[in-house]
Amino acid sequence: MNLDEVIKKRASIRKYLEKPVTLDKIALLLEAARTAPNSGNLQDFRFVVINNKAIKNQITETSLRQFWMNSAPVFIVVCSDLNKLETYYKERSKEYGLQNASAAAMLISLKAVDLGLSTCWVNVFDKNAISRILRLKDKVIPHIVLTLGYEENNQSKKKFSKIPLSKITFFNSYGTNIINVKVWAKEKYLDKIKKLFTKK
Ligand SMILES: Cc1cc2nc3c(=O)[nH]c(=O)nc-3n(C[C@H](O)[C@H](O)[C@H](O)COP(=O)(O)O)c2cc1C
Repeated sequence: MNLDEVIKKRASIRKYLEKPVTLDKIALLLEAARTAPNSGNLQDFRFVVINNKAIKNQITETSLRQFWMNSAPVFIVVCSDLNKLETYYKERSKEYGLQNASAAAMLISLKAVDLGLSTCWVNVFDKNAISRILRLKDKVIPHIVLTLGYEENNQSKKKFSKIPLSKITFFNSYGTNIINVKVWAKEKYLDKIKKLFTKK
């Protein structure tokens, strides 16, 4: 699948087939994840892969009891190990850890689509509870639970509508939209936009 197709197809999936996800596929996801940009190349991301039903259920319980999560055969918990980050980045380390983990999680989400898999990003859990459940070491912070599996019933076809670019993009300073909003709203005008953007 090419990158545009992957990006378009990605959607949060909340119901999965009972089909297991093989380890070789999980390895490909994590191979993608570890290439993510990260502060100082300290590569603080840590991944905990869970396929144990009881552990999944405990995580679901601590994620506001979103029981749909249990239909996913695998969870990947994306964490950040703050140990080195704190040495180098002091008070910025927590924010960097979160950003690094997010970059890695995004790559997992996209690679999953490429492999015919789906994910949903979950971040409402109790961090202390997850740390206990997964026996995370001190300073290893869980940031994102990604549910992973094969989607049931083509849910990704019913995508949420997205706010048009014209409403969320500005040029040179916030609030300044120098381009006719109708131009931005339509993908077919992308070439025109490119010309406008490169015009000095
Ligand atoms: C930080 C974050 C937290 C999220 N937490 C949850 C969650 O707890 N439960 C859930 O069902 N979806 C969660 N999502 C998924 C969003 O609801 C979803 O990305 C959004 O509705 C856009 O839909 P899409 O991913 O299909 O484009 C979360 C996404 C992010 C980025």
